[in-house]
Amino acid sequence: MTKTRKGPIIFSKSKPFSGLKNAIDIGRSEVLDYVRKSNIKGRGGAGFPTGVKWNLTATASDKKKYVICNADEGEPGTFKDRVLLDEYAKLVFEGMVICAFAVGADEGILYLRGEYISFLPELEKTLNQMRKNNLLGKNILGKKGFNFDIKIRLGVGAYVCGEETSLIESLEGYRGEPRNKPPFPTNTGFAGHPTVINNVETFAAIAHIILKGPDWFRSIGTEKSSGSKLISVSGDCKKPGVYEIPFGTTIKKILKLTEAKDTKAVEVGGASGVCVAKSEFGRKIAYEDLSTGGSIIIFSKKRDLLEVAKNFLDFFAEESCGQCTPCREGIPVLQEKLDKLQQKKATKGDLEDIFSLAETMYLASKCGLGQTAASAFVSILSNFKKDYVLVKS
Ligand SMILES: Cc1cc2nc3c(=O)[nH]c(=O)nc-3n(C[C@H](O)[C@H](O)[C@H](O)COP(=O)(O)O)c2cc1C
Ligand code: SF4
Repeated sequence: MTKTRKGPIIFSKSKPFSGLKNAIDIGRSEVLDYVRKSNIKGRGGAGFPTGVKWNLTATASDKKKYVICNADEGEPGTFKDRVLLDEYAKLVFEGMVICAFAVGADEGILYLRGEYISFLPELEKTLNQMRKNNLLGKNILGKKGFNFDIKIRLGVGAYVCGEETSLIESLEGYRGEPRNKPPFPTNTGFAGHPTVINNVETFAAIAHIILKGPDWFRSIGTEKSSGSKLISVSGDCKKPGVYEIPFGTTIKKILKLTEAKDTKAVEVGGASGVCVAKSEFGRKIAYEDLSTGGSIIIFSKKRDLLEVAKNFLDFFAEESCGQCTPCREGIPVLQEKLDKLQQKKATKGDLEDIFSLAETMYLASKCGLGQTAASAFVSILSNFKKDYVLVKS
């Protein structure tokens, strides 16, 4: 069921493809300048500056370039890209076409989460409509030499395939395993060619930026985090759902918006994020404070947070690709330690082992999955000391 969405950027009104028309009017280098000046950072979680990414691909010396939209959305508790693909697909595709124009790409791919297969017919219909209206294809909107088209490829449910280099491996028909970086996709991406990979929300925001300008975008949010963020709120609240909030919004405000009561903890950033206690509900959603790809899970006082940590660790154990030792071997050790904690048999030494292993995994794992697999567990142990007891060794 379609619901009216409100928000300052993504859900603000705009005529479909007016951002693209403006892009063609102002020209390629001005588009790159708008993106850089807007200070937009990637909405997929890592927060890399989009202007830098686009510029690296635009200046790469290869005639063949790609634009990929990462619609894998595998982080537990995240469902904001689903809303964009379902209700705002034109905006997302518009952002991709603008990107192609700016960086000089002629092929685009939407990498769609396997579980979102039901959106496929409607998305294909939108692309066909765009082809009919000369918004895809040859000499787009009469711009000579501007040729670009988008195809859709489905993932098959591996969380690690959301990581940009495993996503490329998967698209190329290999096992979805992260590559060593460098080289980065901006230089050596899909099929060895320079590739921009951005999140669904990043592309949607850019369509608005090119229409309304970088100053407008920077007037919303905080100094270091311009614009807004889509958050997917789930858990113990009356009004779960997708909200567009300006960066700088506090956890307290989110709890009010969603009518959450008796909240004990808020997990910001999904399984790979941090679990925040009541004393920190004044903290803000922003890259400089609490960064998130979009997942906010609310836990009321009746929740057992060790059980929450177990749930997340079980998820990572299932989803680790097994390629590197700290992640493959570290997660099962954390699971054993957690089991000891749940049985009230863990010692201070076990706790120290957990913190030290988490640090090693953060420093030595090959990709973000292993680097952040212990994050929620460690924050639960640090922020909720009353939730567990230790035995004397
Ligand atoms: C394990 C793992 C899963 C990821 N899953 C996603 C995902 O589902 N969607 C996404 O946009 N980015 C995901 N990322 C981040 C991507 O690697 C990449 O940073 C992002 O697609 C870049 O787009 P952005 O700059 O617009 O955020 C994931 C990263 C890791 C390590
Ligand atoms: S950190 Fe984990 S998921 Fe990432 S490459 Fe290593 S084993 Fe694979």
